[in-house]
Order: sequence, then structure tokens, then C-alpha cells
Amino acid sequence: MSHYFETDHDKHEFAGRLIVSVGLGLALMLLAVLVFAAESPTNYAAARWYPLHFKPAIERADDKECLVCHAEVLKPSVRAQSPAGVRADQSLAWYQTLEIYSGAQDTFHRRHLLGEMAKRYMNLRCNTCHQGHDPRDEAPGTSVTAQATGYTLRKQVDPKTCLMCHGQFNAEVMGLPGPWAEHGETFGNNCLTCHEGIRTTRHNVNFLKPRAIEEAGRESSEHCYGCHGGRAWYRIPFPYPRHAWEGMDKDIPDWAKHRPTQSEPRFRLEAWTSTPAAPATVNPSPAAKTSGATPAQPRAMAAGKAPASPELRMNVKGKNHVRPL
Ligand code: HEC
Ligand code: HEC
Ligand code: HEC
Ligand code: HEC
Ligand code: HEC
Repeated sequence: MSHYFETDHDKHEFAGRLIVSVGLGLALMLLAVLVFAAESPTNYAAARWYPLHFKPAIERADDKECLVCHAEVLKPSVRAQSPAGVRADQSLAWYQTLEIYSGAQDTFHRRHLLGEMAKRYMNLRCNTCHQGHDPRDEAPGTSVTAQATGYTLRKQVDPKTCLMCHGQFNAEVMGLPGPWAEHGETFGNNCLTCHEGIRTTRHNVNFLKPRAIEEAGRESSEHCYGCHGGRAWYRIPFPYPRHAWEGMDKDIPDWAKHRPTQSEPRFRLEAWTSTPAAPATVNPSPAAKTSGATPAQPRAMAAGKAPASPELRMNVKGKNHVRPL
């Protein structure tokens, strides 16, 4: 071994370099492991328990962060043909025959996030629907990490969220004689006949594009109806918040006495600005104002818990869903 080195000095220098480079190598490896561990869990169990699945992290999760692991939810994955031989392009559900339905069969996630309509007037994000995913228990309130809302047993997403756009048309509160499909014509098949002046403070939430909705509604009321009865998967209407509007009567009708007057806190614009990278706070501190909101800032509602709406009481049996309407 000694003949490789001319002198003892060379030997020491070599040993010194070896130690430095091995040390450097180890340090780099450690860094890589740390970065990797922080960015993406290396195994399935760790990924299932990834903090982003839980509150409060999920409340300020950017879609991109979820898609690192769940890219498949936005991949086109509709079968051309069912195993029994029914072709997708030849089978349409009733709502797919509506004037405003467009495009080939597509998946649920793509329809809500990437479809023509979704892009035109919706701004849904993963966490508009997914408020948590606890692999231990899909029952509400049974563990400190379970979703704290009064959501339905074993549902991963609170159906109240779906009900906002998939509830029945509430002809009763509108004073219409019956369902829109039967009586719409009396009003020129036009929601704006009345809604040009009634409940005009609407859709100012972080998952909708209010101006684009009004434009679409002017083109065809089918667009309005599409979210207010035209695609009703539920037998009940959603008890919408009743925002004050210009020219509103001071007397509150009985059915509206228990209605909130503002959207759910997590949906308010100030809770989550249009750019997910820079969430704003409800009452930004002077410091936050000058420095600008940073991605690390918690969503406004993470700080104060959103009160569960007393008007909505869901149960599993499908009865008495809605308390005073
Ligand atoms: C580090 C990777 C990773 C990230 C980031 C991640 N998840 Fe997951 N998620 C997983 C794994 C792994 C599972 C377990 C899948 C299974 O059991 O089939 C899972 C399960 C789920 C499930 C249940 C799936 C099922 O089939 O039951 C949902 C819903 C979900 N995640 C939503 C989200 C959302 C929303 C985000 C972003 C806020 C997110 N995940 C971020 C890895 C991740
Ligand atoms: C419109 C509401 C909505 C939005 C927006 C949404 N999801 Fe989902 N997601 C659901 C529902 C409903 C299910 C089915 C839940 C069940 O089976 O109980 C689901 C299921 C899932 C699953 C389970 C696997 C599967 O494909 O069924 C994953 C993973 C998931 N979502 C991730 C995401 C990610 C990531 C995003 C954002 C890119 C997202 N979701 C956006 C409502 C939504
Ligand atoms: C902000 C409004 C909104 C919310 C919230 C919403 N949807 Fe939808 N949903 C729509 C619109 C609009 C369409 C029509 C999209 C299209 O035709 O491209 C649709 C379409 C659908 C379809 C038909 C998809 C198809 O292939 O044609 C199903 C099923 C559905 N929604 C279920 C749900 C469920 C379940 C939830 C809750 C987890 C939900 N939606 C939440 C607006 C919404
Ligand atoms: C004949 C007039 C009229 C027509 C036509 C009409 N509405 Fe209404 N609508 C009303 C009135 C009145 C209210 C209740 C106003 C209030 O809060 O006092 C109302 C309330 C609503 C609400 C809130 C319901 C709630 O429970 O808070 C929605 C959503 C709505 N209308 C959507 C529509 C859509 C979509 C159309 C067209 C498909 C339509 N309306 C057509 C008069 C009408
Ligand atoms: C993409 C789905 C979608 C479309 C399209 C849509 N709405 Fe809505 N609408 C909603 C949701 C969700 C809410 C509740 C938002 C909130 O929590 O404040 C709402 C709320 C309302 C309200 C209650 C207003 C209040 O006091 O807060 C009225 C009235 C209404 N919509 C009428 C209309 C009319 C008229 C059109 C067509 C011009 C229309 N909607 C189109 C989803 C939709």
C-alpha cells in the first residue's frame, strides 16, 4: 500500500481528502433524505398519513400539492365500453341530454375541475370538497383527527357541499306555482325576469366565477337551472345564505328567519383569494399587509372554527334534512 504514496505527507493528504469527500457525500445523502422525507413520504403508509390529509394543512392545500400523489384523478379514464359491452358514447343519462351538456363522457373529477362548464364559471379546488381524509375512521367526530363537520357517515366528502349545486329548485320560497320544468315558460324560461332585481348579491364565493355565471345566465337560464334544480341528485333544496340586496324588503319572510346572511366562512372570498398561492386573512394585521400574504399563512378560517350551519341537519335516512325552511 505504501508504494502508492511517495511520502507520508501524501498519505495524510489522501486520507484527509478521503475523509472530506466521504463526509461531504454523507452530508449530501442526509440532505437528500431529509428533503425527500419532507417533500414526499417514501412508503404507502406514510403517504396515507401525510399531514396534507388533515386539518389544518388541508385547508390551505394547493391542488398541485395533492396532485403530486393523486395525478390519476384528473387523467381521462372513462372506459370506451363497459365490461358488459355498453358503449360510453351511446349511453347518456337524462341530464346529459340537456342543451347545456357538452363533450364526451368524462369522469366526475374532470367534469368539476377541467370541463368546459367548470372552467367557464366554477373555480373548484380539491379542498372545496375534500376537507380531510382520515384513513383511521370515516365517521365524523370519532377521533381528534376526523373531520369536525356534521358530515354523513362514511362519506369522504360532505354532501352539503354537493347540495349547493345539486339540490332541488325551491319553487316554494320563490312563490312559483310549481316546478320550473312546468312553470318556467310563464316567466319566459328566464330566471332573470325576477332575479335581475331579487337576491342580486350572489355567487361571491371562492369556488365560483360570479361575472361569468351572470353572462352564462343571460345566454340561457339553463345555466342557472343547471346548478339550481336541473341536476338535482337530492330531494331537497339547499338553504342558501340570504345576502342583503339593493331594494330588499326590510321584513324577513318566515322561511328566511333562520337563514344565514353570509356564505359559509370557508367559502368567503377573503378566506382564500383567487390565487391559492397567496391566501389573504380576514383582518390582515398591519404586518401582513405590508409584507403581503405568504403561502405559509393559514387560511383565515383555520384560526376560527366555522360554525356548523344550524339550518342544515343531514341524517343518513334522507328525511328531515332541512330544518326550518
Ligand atoms: C404524499 C402523497 C399524498 C399526498 C400529497 C396526498 N395524498 Fe391523498 N392519499 C395518499 C395515499 C397513499 C392514499 C391511500 C390510497 C388508498 O388507500 O387507496 C391517499 C388517500 C386519499 C383519499 C382516499 C382515497 C380512497 O380511495 O379512499 C383521498 C380522498 C385523498 N387521499 C385526497 C387527498 C387530497 C385532497 C390531498 C391534498 C390536500 C391529498 N390526498 C394529498 C397519498 C397522498
Ligand atoms: C366537486 C367535489 C370534488 C372535488 C373538487 C374534488 N373531489 Fe376528489 N372526490 C370527490 C368525491 C365525491 C369522491 C368520492 C368519495 C367517496 O367515494 O366517498 C372523491 C374521490 C377522490 C379520491 C379517491 C379516488 C377516486 O378517484 O375516487 C381521491 C384520491 C380524490 N378524490 C382526490 C382529489 C383531488 C386530488 C382533487 C383536486 C385535484 C379532488 N379530489 C377534487 C369530490 C371531489
Ligand atoms: C359549484 C357547483 C358544484 C358543486 C359544489 C358540485 N357540482 Fe357536480 N356538477 C356541477 C356542474 C356545473 C356539473 C355539470 C358539468 C358538465 O356537464 O360539464 C356537475 C356535474 C355533476 C355530475 C355529472 C357528471 C357527468 O359525467 O356528467 C355528477 C355525478 C355530480 N356533478 C356530482 C356531484 C357531487 C357528488 C358533488 C359533491 C361532492 C358535486 N357534484 C358538487 C356543479 C357542481
Ligand atoms: C317569479 C319570479 C322568479 C323566477 C322566475 C325565479 N325566481 Fe328564484 N327567487 C324568487 C324569489 C321571490 C326568491 C326569494 C327571495 C327572497 O329571498 O325573499 C327567489 C329565490 C331564489 C333562490 C334562493 C333560494 C333560497 O332558498 O334561498 C335561488 C337559488 C333562485 N331563486 C334561483 C332561481 C333560478 C335558478 C331561477 C330560474 C331557473 C329562478 N330562481 C327563477 C323569484 C323568482
Ligand atoms: C355553477 C353553479 C351555479 C350556477 C351556474 C348558478 N348558481 Fe346560483 N348559486 C350557486 C351556489 C353554490 C350558491 C350559494 C353560494 C353561497 O354560498 O353564497 C348560489 C346562490 C344563488 C342565490 C342565492 C343568493 C344569496 O342570497 O346569496 C341565487 C338567487 C342564485 N344563486 C341564483 C342564480 C341565478 C339567477 C343564476 C343564473 C344567472 C345562477 N344562480 C347560476 C351555484 C350556481
